[in-house]
Amino acid sequence: PPERLQEDFDATIAHDQRIEPRDWMPDGYRGTLVRQIAQHAHSEIIGMQPEGEWIGRAPSLRRKAILLAKVQDEAGHGLYLYSAAETLGTDRAELTQRLIEGRQKYSSIFNYPTLTFADVGVIGWLVDGAAICNQVPLCRSSYGPYARAMVRICKEESFHQRQGYELLMTMMRGTDAQREMVQDAVDRWWWPSLMMFGPPDDASPNSARSMAWKIKRHSNDELRRRFVDMTVPQAEKLGVTLPDPELRRNEQSGRYDFGTPDWDELTRVIKGDGPCNAERMRRRRSAHEDGAWVREAATAHAAKQAARARK
Ligand code: ACO
Repeated sequence: PPERLQEDFDATIAHDQRIEPRDWMPDGYRGTLVRQIAQHAHSEIIGMQPEGEWIGRAPSLRRKAILLAKVQDEAGHGLYLYSAAETLGTDRAELTQRLIEGRQKYSSIFNYPTLTFADVGVIGWLVDGAAICNQVPLCRSSYGPYARAMVRICKEESFHQRQGYELLMTMMRGTDAQREMVQDAVDRWWWPSLMMFGPPDDASPNSARSMAWKIKRHSNDELRRRFVDMTVPQAEKLGVTLPDPELRRNEQSGRYDFGTPDWDELTRVIKGDGPCNAERMRRRRSAHEDGAWVREAATAHAAKQAARARK
């Protein structure tokens, strides 16, 4: 009976055990997971664009090899996440279609331009640093396939974060012009990185339910605060200034107080009106169209193999 199924589900969540694909789950739980995992997958795939633009312009063979590896990792993350979403009964082709038609979102952060090579370092340090803060707790998410995908993704994210920090350290030891490039990139990426964590808690419609279901383990504001606490000492070590006059250590809590991000800007970017939204979507659509022949060939090949196996 349905009450019994709901009770089993509630008990699994209460005992911090995992829900697996064949288990019964409420429709709302399934829908929330598809929404969050798909948005996450789309972010990884669209996120290849801003840094991908620098692969052909990397300043050395070493930097190029690192960047290439990182962007390929992002493609891999997208694929593990689409696979996790498929265990909930929605296939990847359908999810891609929803993205392309603008019915599903991807992270606001990837709608900002990468103007100099310092942006590659700052994306690694701040954007991937924020991703780690947000995603390490997701390794304990209540849905098994999502949590397990996160374990590997987080390991790779920490390599991404470190390559970014190392790149910036190298530039900071360089010329004045290089140091200025780093500071300029930090100035442009700081606030958008804080916005990655989503709207403030009192304006986050999904948080309460997602936390009750243990899909999310912490609120948007708590994770944002953890990110600031982690990043300020790193900025000091690097020798850059974070562009927030209200940022200071709170002697009582031992944590940092900081200013308020421009929430109107986040809303605009999520709605499609950020600096690069149109360009990102145009590239994504054309990559999808250009790949049509590969999908057709793979389908034809699979059909032939299946026919041969039946003989
Ligand atoms: N960019 C785009 N959309 C956002 C963002 C953002 N930075 N923050 C929140 N939103 C959207 C939410 O998806 C939601 O829209 P929807 O209901 O239409 O899906 C709406 O704004 C309201 O936000 P919340 O109620 O706070 O939504 P939610 O509980 O899903 O929390 C969060 C948002 C924190 C991003 C959560 O979905 C999450 O942890 N996702 C997994 C991580 C992820 O997607 N990372 C992608 C970028 S990191 C990287 O890939 C390097």
